[in-house]
Parts: sequence; C-alpha cells; structure tokens
Amino acid sequence: MLERPTRQALPKKLFVKTYGCQMNVYDSERMSEMLAAVGYEAVHAAEDADLVVLNTCHIREKAAEKVYSEVGRLRALKSRRPDMVIAVAGCVAQAEGSEVLRRAPAVDIVVGPQAYQRLPEMLARVERARGGSGIVDVEFRPEAKFDELPAHEGPAGPSAFLTIQEGCDKFCTFCVVPYTRGAEYSRPAAAVIAEAGELARRGAREIVLLGQNVNAWCGEGPDGRDWTLARLIRALAEIEGVERLRYTTSHPRDMSDDLIEVHGAVPALMPFLHLPVQSGSDRVLDRMNRKHRASDYLRIVERLRTARPDIALASDFIVGFPGESERDFEGTMTLVREIGYAQAYSFKYSARPGTPAAADPLQVPEAVKSERLARLQDLLNSQQQAFNRNCVGKRLPILFERNGKRHGQLVGRSPYMQAVHAEAGAARIGDLAEVEILAAGPNSLSGGSPAI
Ligand code: 5AD
Ligand code: SF4
Repeated sequence: MLERPTRQALPKKLFVKTYGCQMNVYDSERMSEMLAAVGYEAVHAAEDADLVVLNTCHIREKAAEKVYSEVGRLRALKSRRPDMVIAVAGCVAQAEGSEVLRRAPAVDIVVGPQAYQRLPEMLARVERARGGSGIVDVEFRPEAKFDELPAHEGPAGPSAFLTIQEGCDKFCTFCVVPYTRGAEYSRPAAAVIAEAGELARRGAREIVLLGQNVNAWCGEGPDGRDWTLARLIRALAEIEGVERLRYTTSHPRDMSDDLIEVHGAVPALMPFLHLPVQSGSDRVLDRMNRKHRASDYLRIVERLRTARPDIALASDFIVGFPGESERDFEGTMTLVREIGYAQAYSFKYSARPGTPAAADPLQVPEAVKSERLARLQDLLNSQQQAFNRNCVGKRLPILFERNGKRHGQLVGRSPYMQAVHAEAGAARIGDLAEVEILAAGPNSLSGGSPAI
C-alpha cells in the first residue's frame, strides 16, 4: 500500500512587540503563552515571524503614532511574504477599532485588550479568508478574558506581573484610559490568589500586582467579605514562595488608611511606591479633575513615611497642561523639592482626541512645555542621583532577574526598584541575596559578590 506523505506541521513563528505600560507586558506574556499552546514559537525579530503582534499604547500621541510607522515597515516585509499575519492589539486597537484597518490595510487583525483570548480563532479565520478584509474584535468583557485564558505553563521569571484590576472611572481630563480600558474592574480575590500561587510554584519570588488604578481594587474575599487591596496583600504575603510584593499604579484618592498601614505591617511589601501626582498646583489639579489637592498628597506621603520610614517614592508628572501658568509650574517644582523622589516619569501634555482637556482653548505653546520639562527633569534627575548615591556602602537584598552584559555579572533589583549590577560569584538568577553597594550611576547601582 502506498504511504500517504504526512506533512509535519512546522511550528509557526511569533514576534510580539510591546509598547507602553506593564499591563501591556502582562498581556503580551499571556498572548505568547496562549499562542504557544496552539503551535507558535517565539522569535526575536519580525523578519523571522509568521505572526507579528503589536501590543500598542494610546496614552500620548507619540506612542499611538509609532504603531503606524511600525506597520509601514512590516508592510514591506509582508509584500515579500504574503502569508505573514499582522495583528494590532492593545489600546490603539481598542480606541481606533476598524479605523486601524482603514489607515493601515496591511493589518489582518485588530484585537482589543479584553478580546485577545480569542486570537487563535481569529487566526484561523484569517487563514480561511486569505486576502479578505481584516478582522476587528474589540469586545469589552474583562471577566471573560480572565476566565477564558488558559492557565500559565512553564517556568516563571523571578519577578512576575499579575494583573488584578483593569480600567479607570476617574476621568482625569487629559487621559484616554477610561475610554480605552473602560470602567474599573477588579478580578475576584480567589482568582488572584490562585494565579499568585501558580506563579510562585513556577518559580516567581516577587509578584507585581498591576492595574491602571490598582489601589482601587476591591472584591469579594474567599471568606465572603468585601476585601480591599490591603487585605489582599496580607493574603498574598502568606503564599509559600512569595517573598516580595509590589503594586502599581496607584491614585492618591485610593490610598486608604488600611493600605498605608499595610506598608508598615507586611515586610514582603517592598518599600517603593509609584504614586502619580501629575502637578503640584491646586488650580491645575482641579482642571485635571484629580479630585485632591497638593496638600492631600503631601499628607499621604508623610503618613506612608511614618508607616514605613525607608519608603521610596516615584511619580508621574505632566507639564504644560492647558492653562498651566509659570506660577502653577513652580508649584510642581516646590512639591518635588518637598517630597524628594527616588524616580519619576515626566511628560509634556499631549492633547488626546475625545478627552475634555484637548478642547481647552488655553493650550500651552510647545516651546514653553519643552522648557518646563527640561527644568523639571533636571530636578528629578538630581533627586534620583542623590537617592542612588545614598545607597552606596549599604547592604541591600537583591533579587537577581537576569544575566548582565559582562560575563559573570548578574542584574537584579533592590527593594527600592533600582537595577543592581553585581559580580555573580555563587549566585544564580532567582536568588535573593545581600549585596554591598559599591557605586551609584544615574540609573543603576553596582555591587560586589552577593553573600550566599
Ligand atoms: N499627555 C501627557 N501625559 C499623559 N499621561 C496620561 N495622559 C497623558 C497626556 N494626555 C501620563 C500621566 C500618567 C502616565 C501613565 O502618562 O502622567 O500618569
Ligand atoms: Fe488616566 Fe486619571 Fe485614570 Fe490614571 S487615574 S488612568 S491618569 S483617568
């Protein structure tokens, strides 16, 4: 009998490019895991890929526009390899939907951050309809996403992200998030505890809880009571293998008493908090609809420092918000001087379509924005350097996450989120060990061999 030749299906190649925040990093990991289960192997360059996923960010104009230039580059590749599939995921997909296909016809799939669990079906549809028009799925059901995603598989890195909350109800007047990621949604405590346990079993020692407004997390606990983030953190700290916990990003309005208290009570909760203030002027904070004053923020920081004296603070700032005067900007500089930040992100205001501030007639000229940004960044950089220099001579516990550029070097993170380069000695990736800090650079520290 003649044997029919069997065609061994080669693994398909997947390249995911991630823009924006850690929530996109988490989503990219989940997409890669899910696609691995249906035969896609990760590669490091679009040139080698059968499927390219761009997981996009819509927060500022520059971030959103990058996607279109990237699709332009991919279109050239696709003209040589017509089987290549291009998917645009993330917040640009959610915000622009079928407009993405109109502006970039080379795109095959537009998939929102709440719909990517259906990517395998969408890929099958694209294969069946080769040359047809693109597919758009931006349905919004966060609970369905988390329920339908397959469980994690394979080893986890020493530090793992875990999304516990999505969306935002705050409606700051500059921000697209309430439109791109929808209303606040908190995952149930039991699901979060189960996923954290799974990550710890797969080797994670640090878990970073993620949410656009993570400290607004609330949900029914396994005991049937209403839990806050503080209660959840206490439960997660009990999980075997979980040695470090962090949460990001928070809103000052949701820094509740119990959450401030937990910083002093749970040693696994790392002494570093990203708490964006955006501006130090009450007038601007009001126009931004932040719903707090500069003095409220200062008071929260004071209370955090009472609970955990070594806590390091980070923030986001926007300069040149519509109507911001020189005096308002000085208010921001004063607040920064008063707090003393370990780290910060600062941006020029970028008008986003559909947000209230974009229609404000009092837009600040670009040159003024640039000049203020430079002054603010000078101050923030000098504070970051001072914070780093202050660590020299201390012994800090470092969680090693990856190999360094030089042979025999490991890179890890201090409790305060600084990257630390150390001589590996007997230490391995995944070890949590004390390192003496020998030198400080602007963005990282270096240390001796870890004490194992
Ligand atoms: N322009 C500039 N920066 C912005 N951010 C959010 N929206 C805008 C905008 N329209 C910044 C805020 C936020 C961070 C994630 O991005 O500082 O905290
Ligand atoms: Fe945007 Fe404000 Fe919500 Fe943060 S709190 S995601 S800045 S609307």
